[in-house]
Amino acid sequence: MLHSFAFISIVLSVSSLATAESMAFFRSSGSGCPAHYTEWASVPHAPFSAGPLRIPSMRPPPECRTFTSPAVETAISRISAQITDPDIRQLFINIMPNTLDTAIAWHAPGTKDSADYPYTFVITGDINAQWTRDSTNQLLPLLPYAAADARLNALIAGLINMQAEQIASYPFANAYKPPARSGLVPGENSWAKGDSVHPPFDLRTVFEAKFEIDSLAAFFKLSTAFWRQQQQTSNDLLDMDLWRHAITTAVELLEKLQAPTFDADQRLTDATVRFLRTANSPTESSFGGGRGNPIRRTGMVRTLFRPSDDSVIFPFLVPANAMLAVELRALADMFDQTGDAAIASRSRNLADEITRGIYAFGTVEHPKYGKVFAYEVDGYGSHLLMDDANVPSLLSLPYLGFVNATDSIYQNTRHMILSLDNPWYFSNGTSGSLSGIGSPHTGFRRAWPMSVAIQALTSDDKQDIVNAVRLLAASTAGLGLMHESINIDSVDGKSFTRPWFAWCNGVVSELITHIVAQYPGLL
Ligand SMILES: *[C@@H]1O[C@H](CO)[C@@H](O)[C@H](O)[C@H]1NC(C)=O
Ligand SMILES: *[C@@H]1O[C@H](CO)[C@@H](O)[C@H](O)[C@H]1NC(C)=O
Repeated sequence: MLHSFAFISIVLSVSSLATAESMAFFRSSGSGCPAHYTEWASVPHAPFSAGPLRIPSMRPPPECRTFTSPAVETAISRISAQITDPDIRQLFINIMPNTLDTAIAWHAPGTKDSADYPYTFVITGDINAQWTRDSTNQLLPLLPYAAADARLNALIAGLINMQAEQIASYPFANAYKPPARSGLVPGENSWAKGDSVHPPFDLRTVFEAKFEIDSLAAFFKLSTAFWRQQQQTSNDLLDMDLWRHAITTAVELLEKLQAPTFDADQRLTDATVRFLRTANSPTESSFGGGRGNPIRRTGMVRTLFRPSDDSVIFPFLVPANAMLAVELRALADMFDQTGDAAIASRSRNLADEITRGIYAFGTVEHPKYGKVFAYEVDGYGSHLLMDDANVPSLLSLPYLGFVNATDSIYQNTRHMILSLDNPWYFSNGTSGSLSGIGSPHTGFRRAWPMSVAIQALTSDDKQDIVNAVRLLAASTAGLGLMHESINIDSVDGKSFTRPWFAWCNGVVSELITHIVAQYPGLL
């Protein structure tokens, strides 16, 4: 009678459903559910859409889904009814609920009228760990439907409580393991055992300790978006003491990381965070004995890793600082309303210093494009001109709310990064093959569907937007789901990485939802 894969049973069966079972919530034993969603996602399932792409139906059977929201089901019906193209309609139906269908590894709904708050552990897809950045992006597109669905609202609040708990205990990590009380079997990361990291971390809670400033920005983003929405309803779902502690810890840490590498006498300052790993790729470790290449004070905050989880070359990662500035302002606006004047003013000051730093040190006069944003700088004048598909990226700056799409520095930057003058932009030249920005994370001649989606989300050219969606639909290797990267020389995206990448499914469903609302009849 107990379906081990269904979300409710995962919550209730902490003690009975011993270890190995819990994480494999698609386990089939007698249930008819696939053993793992990666398997399900690697084979096309009937029925197929009536269009030329024959997009398969990739939602797991209802009894195998990890969470079901009536409000989201209603939205899927409403939005898909407004899509005329049968291939794009089926793609949307597959990807929009992908996180709810497959990635809610654990959820405790909490009990009202007690200090028992909801908690939610959201896996990134094919890896059994929760990334702060991915999990924010996985649930944020569903926030608009939470007002009409109290269970969905508690699910999202549960993720904020989970992120707060993780960040309060160790703010330097990019990915965390499930809490012991979930009864889930944590994913293993054999690398992390050998990492030399300061301050030290606990392998029982941290999956990977790569310090990425956009993870903290992602925590701010989900929290403030949730708070804005809840203002209309009374809410007691967040553990506010824990949350305030996590936010304060993060803001204090970010202030410290504005510090230059050397003081006036060229003595080393406090590194605050260091990361070293033994690896065969330099993207996995850090320069400068783990503290990163030298920097001068610019007002920006340094990071060790990018949103791709690759190490930075120069520690001031401009798009991540831009996202941080936007989210620190949102945090300040929120604290103004809640009467926390001290933390509001610290957050706003930090946002202002970062923004001034970006314009003073993060832009470059380019001989061909004019003034552009650099991807990374160091405050000494060195800079890196490129973009990476992972958000926050330079391409996504208007999507992140840092500039308007019409901003001239952004437009110059956009022309540069969507051309072969960005070493990580890949185009095969054959019509119908996916061109776009890739990432050192997946190597040469691989474009990321996520960058194509962001390109469309930051454009107001209807033809470009439609072309982007068609290209995305035609590049799923016939599997009807978004993939991480695609070999641009493979037909229909047949050579790809990560069959189960929930974040990108979320971004593309956000794009299609946006188009249906903004340009009725276009799809
Ligand atoms: C974008 O433009 C609008 C209207 O002109 C303006 O109110 C807003 O502040 C701008 N946003 C940014 C990030 O510059
Ligand atoms: C470009 O992609 C096509 C498949 O769409 C492939 O046949 C061709 O070899 C690729 N071109 C190069 C230069 O690899």
